[in-house]
Amino acid sequence: MVVGELAESADLLVIGGGPGGYAAAIRAAQLGREVTLVERDGAAGLGGVCLHRGCIPSKALIEVASAAHRGAALETAGLEGELSVSLPRFQAWRAELCARLARGVGELLAKGNVRIVHGEARFNRPDRVAVHTPDDRAIFLEFQHAIVATGSRPIELPNLPFDGERVLDSTAALALTETPRSVAVVGAGYIGLELGTALAKLGARVTIVEALDRILPSIDASLTAPVLRRLRALGVDVQLNATAERLDGDCLIVATADGDDTVAAERVIVAVGRTPNTDELGLTAAGVEVAGSGRDGGVAAAGVELARSGRDGSPAAAGITGAGLIPVAADMRATDRIAAIGDVVAGPALAHKATAEAAVAAEALSGRPAAFDPRAIPEVIFTDPEIATVGLTEAQAREAGMDPRTATFPLAASGRAGTLDARDGLTRVVTDQATDRVVGVHIVGPHASELIAGGALAIELMAAPGDLAATIHPHPTLSESLHEAAALALGHPLHVSG
Ligand code: NAI
Repeated sequence: MVVGELAESADLLVIGGGPGGYAAAIRAAQLGREVTLVERDGAAGLGGVCLHRGCIPSKALIEVASAAHRGAALETAGLEGELSVSLPRFQAWRAELCARLARGVGELLAKGNVRIVHGEARFNRPDRVAVHTPDDRAIFLEFQHAIVATGSRPIELPNLPFDGERVLDSTAALALTETPRSVAVVGAGYIGLELGTALAKLGARVTIVEALDRILPSIDASLTAPVLRRLRALGVDVQLNATAERLDGDCLIVATADGDDTVAAERVIVAVGRTPNTDELGLTAAGVEVAGSGRDGGVAAAGVELARSGRDGSPAAAGITGAGLIPVAADMRATDRIAAIGDVVAGPALAHKATAEAAVAAEALSGRPAAFDPRAIPEVIFTDPEIATVGLTEAQAREAGMDPRTATFPLAASGRAGTLDARDGLTRVVTDQATDRVVGVHIVGPHASELIAGGALAIELMAAPGDLAATIHPHPTLSESLHEAAALALGHPLHVSG
């Protein structure tokens, strides 16, 4: 023990203030715990990467870029006049939006009397952390229970290190105040496609470089086809089976089966996956096991691993794989005292998954029976059109030993979609005929991200397709597509022939 190390007591300690951490703190406070939350960026950082550097800023950028672009697209429908985007004004608006939302999280935590400690926590015993504060002090906190919710960070490619100028991670890309003339996006995953589409709509010449033979390798190819068509219509050059190598002058060198190619790249955005923030936490001192080799082994290797895994035919999994993950039980505990949630544990690296795990961890550590056992976790990708998916595809259902039946309602048959001038997309319902249950819902089209909640509810409540078809959906809305797909599954569709 360090001489003079006096520990304060912390009952339930939460490390990290993102959608996992702050949700855990709120739930634990509701259960009567005295909660201390340590956040590297202090109160201003509440909401974490999702609020400040991920979900919220990216959706704001996509919204603005799409609105401006849509103005031009609706010219044939009679919309006149050009819209343009001022990125400096966007950034100021976005900063205020994020700050306001973070203040809101702070107010919620204050209502639960959660103490916020500004600094970086590191375990030095199974029941104690040292918090390094911005003014270079160390605060020692001795806890009864702790929840690790430290999230993840972008993977860096060794030959294309982030420099914030030429080679950008998603955070730096979202902070751009000028649209680059040319952008090479490395990785056709969630982040690469969302950012690449937005920048193309803002007027950049975008090339997407993907090591595997398709975009969004973790998503069924029939769902990604409309997105690929749209990217090409937007003038985005999508290079598949192409691996980013290095910079050479104004260009990015890309390795393809036919040799090296050059891609114009005033800026390069590298989005090849994320790695968990578990390497600086002193987890060994806490008695918490971490998968894989840890520090430098994990980071670069994970991206390469991801890129390689599809080459032999097996699709790369979405989310975080490989080194640095904390193994946990169903109640999210890694040890009797310590739970871990969100991007530091296995599963998709999604905010809503972290939030759901947060409640389980807070309850389990507070003596309640709890387990993370969802039937399905929805995934939404804000491409154009949006892709949203929950549950099983037909192939996955078959692999799981089910007797699946798929019904696909085309977007072109939806009147509401017509008013949006949207035709390319679908709503698909996968049912298990043996149990007469909906086991998968997949939507491609405008607002798919909003509509998928209906599918998640159907799966979680073990609905039959007949339940969906018997539920009156409002007209004229896109939500009718779910009703139509269910009716199609039953053999009595209305707006398509069965
Ligand atoms: P990702 O895992 O979705 O995709 C990375 C892509 O990069 C893969 O297709 C991979 O084959 C490719 N790749 C790897 N190395 C390469 C190389 N050297 N050259 C060319 N291609 C290479 O990772 P991404 O987009 O960085 O996102 C990370 C995670 O963040 C996602 O899996 C998701 O869980 C989360 N996220 C979720 C969003 C949402 O919910 N809408 C939005 C953004 C991110």
